[in-house]
Amino acid sequence: MHHAHHNNLLPPLLEHFAAERQLVQSFLDRLDTLFPGLSADGNASPRENRGAFADLLFETIVALEDHASEEEAFMKKLALERGTPIQYERHIEDHAALAEAMNRIVDAYTIEDALDCARYLRLVLQRWRQDHIETFDKQMLGWICKDA
Ligand SMILES: [Fe+2]
Repeated sequence: MHHAHHNNLLPPLLEHFAAERQLVQSFLDRLDTLFPGLSADGNASPRENRGAFADLLFETIVALEDHASEEEAFMKKLALERGTPIQYERHIEDHAALAEAMNRIVDAYTIEDALDCARYLRLVLQRWRQDHIETFDKQMLGWICKDA
């Protein structure tokens, strides 16, 4: 019964990962559309895109908050259901670190350094996609599969 229960968690978690990757990639695509020269250090136009960049920045922050609260609730529930403890503290710390990095962009955001903010957001989004999802989020998959 125990095993069947954890197997049932697998499909929604895989869906969650696919949706997260797609969402973060869509943010990166929008950022690259707003600032076409961002990755190549070309002729971006931060003034014109100021409003759209602010929208994207806040949507990113809200999406990370959703990501964090959803997963943290999931991990706490899983830890309660399991006999063995689950080490999810570092995952929660990484959510906080990503949120802090995004909030620093909000604090630093002025019309003069909009391009720097866009560059920094790009790095944070890449870290979310490449490091966070691939290490901390995937760790949850391991916990479920371990005794499935
Ligand atoms: Fe996460």
